[in-house]
Amino acid sequence: MMDAKLRGDYSKAAADGTVVQDWSAYTAAEHALWRRLYARQAALLPAYGAPAVNRSLARLDAGGAIPDFARVNRSLAAATGWQLVAVPGLVDDAVFFAHLAARRFPVTVWLRRPDEVDYLAEPDIFHDFFGHVPLLFDPVFADFMQAYGRQGLAAAAAGTIGPLARLYWYTVEFGLIREAGRLKVYGAGILSSRTETVYAVEDRQPLRLRFDLRRIMRSDYRIDRLQDTYFVIDGYDELFAALNRDLAAELGAAAAAPAIAPGAVAPGDRFETIMRAA
Ligand SMILES: [Fe+2]
Repeated sequence: MMDAKLRGDYSKAAADGTVVQDWSAYTAAEHALWRRLYARQAALLPAYGAPAVNRSLARLDAGGAIPDFARVNRSLAAATGWQLVAVPGLVDDAVFFAHLAARRFPVTVWLRRPDEVDYLAEPDIFHDFFGHVPLLFDPVFADFMQAYGRQGLAAAAAGTIGPLARLYWYTVEFGLIREAGRLKVYGAGILSSRTETVYAVEDRQPLRLRFDLRRIMRSDYRIDRLQDTYFVIDGYDELFAALNRDLAAELGAAAAAPAIAPGAVAPGDRFETIMRAA
């Protein structure tokens, strides 16, 4: 089972890790906090958000209240066949991969506390929804996420989850994309953080590299601070194509190779040359 220190209530979870989203139980204060978090991040999106993210958020129109997954699922199913499932928080890797492989995205049901507006250790509904759900409406990204789930199940069996998790980290969570000659944010970990949205695109400190599957699968990361390295894609098809390689062999090789530290430059690195969002 999951670490007992996690915040969510796992006692009512089904075998697949899911719970019922009791939407009517959210308080007025929680909806108000959601509106505050949403408004802060939405204000940054015209300049920093990837167009596919911005389009989906406009369509979701979720700024007024904590979203009701059942309602969102009707439009998401029509768009890409994905569904949101409610979970108490982090779920086991195998459970997570199985959901993705079945085009189901687990979204945490609880919202952070008011004193955690700028940072919290575990993903909450704001991170999971605002950060991850918009791109599930993009057909290519949606297919990539399913393929990632399938690869995850295979990697779990082969003992090579580590390198595959780095791919998720540096793309789904902290990915940047080139759009019409500008740098934009599509990674959920960036999108749900006001500080990192600006930092990832404009700060001089972090290393920005062109997307490189082998490089990413060897790249360590830190979970408790702004990232030292970001990887930039040209389009979501680049992610999907990466998973169509002989990934089992790639994962095995990456697992056996020395890891590259966050912020470190490695031989063959291709540097991103675009520096600004707008
Ligand atoms: Fe996430």
